[in-house]
Amino acid sequence: MPDEPDKGSTDREPPVGGTTDGSAAGGRSVPDRHHERLSEQFSDDGTRADIWHGFRRLLPTAEYLNLGYSGRFQSHLVGSPQRRLVDQVGDALEARLAHTDGVPLLDVGCGRGGPALHLHRRLGVDATGIDLVPYNVAVARRNARTAGAPPSFVVGDASRAPFADGAFGACTAIDAIVYVPHKGAVFAEIERVLRPGGWLIATDLLRRDGPESPAVDAFADAWDMAPLWTLEEYRRALEDVGLTVESVRELGPNSIDTFRRWTTLYLGLAGRLGPLVRRLLARWGLDFERVTGQVQAAHEALPRLRHVMVCASR
Ligand SMILES: C[S@@+](CC[C@H](N)C(=O)[O-])C[C@H]1O[C@@H](n2cnc3c(N)ncnc32)[C@H](O)[C@@H]1O
Repeated sequence: MPDEPDKGSTDREPPVGGTTDGSAAGGRSVPDRHHERLSEQFSDDGTRADIWHGFRRLLPTAEYLNLGYSGRFQSHLVGSPQRRLVDQVGDALEARLAHTDGVPLLDVGCGRGGPALHLHRRLGVDATGIDLVPYNVAVARRNARTAGAPPSFVVGDASRAPFADGAFGACTAIDAIVYVPHKGAVFAEIERVLRPGGWLIATDLLRRDGPESPAVDAFADAWDMAPLWTLEEYRRALEDVGLTVESVRELGPNSIDTFRRWTTLYLGLAGRLGPLVRRLLARWGLDFERVTGQVQAAHEALPRLRHVMVCASR
């Protein structure tokens, strides 16, 4: 079991402000309920965590929570596609920074610390991670201690990052901003904490251009994401805060397409061998209806989504 989250000065859990209406409902604002849902999804004992309990049969979710990058979803016994996504980000950093050793790097939505630890090991960056969910930060801290590695992790909302102006030479955000309803506020914070000449490398899920799609909205809701943006909306929000988008790379053939092969396989099995799948999931403590509902929502939305790596400079 991970440690209890450190109740340090950054463990304030401020409410999300921004584009959701923030109106009170049952005594809690819309942003508060969004935070609560994220916490329920990403904390191990959360009521919405079943899908991650399922993924952990295939993937090293004690370190990584991203969509991965691989032609095949391989078991973590033979290599982690999720670490491979971090390697794509590492390659982009290496190509843009004059040197990486000792460069202060902020990983936004750091999850369980795998990306910051891997980037530190591979590039020598001086990594700090921030994540909204105390459970993830507790696991990240434990992972850093186990590895004897220096990256530090703080609990907090990236839209109110507790760091000084210009504190970082680089920021990464790996499949994290998609969960944020107020992306502009997070981008403004990233711009503020980056030094002039610093880089943001973000991987994210976006919706394809075209009319809004109920399948995409249903997917975002089922997976506790904010409503998905198009690339144009994402790019405009980055440029509105003064960041310059230098490149956009499509990752989908190695992430979305792979994931859809798995959703196809799962739904095929659940359709033909429902009682067996239900029993297997129950043995793992997973709720068949909840898991199948989330997989179905993803399956229907994936063809309308793109997964991109955006590189932007300050
Ligand atoms: C899909 S996980 C990816 C985690 C990590 N980047 C990785 O690659 O393993 C998304 C993470 O973003 C975090 N997150 C969502 N909204 C956030 C916010 N406003 N501030 C900080 N972290 C946030 C979630 O708690 C979650 O850990």
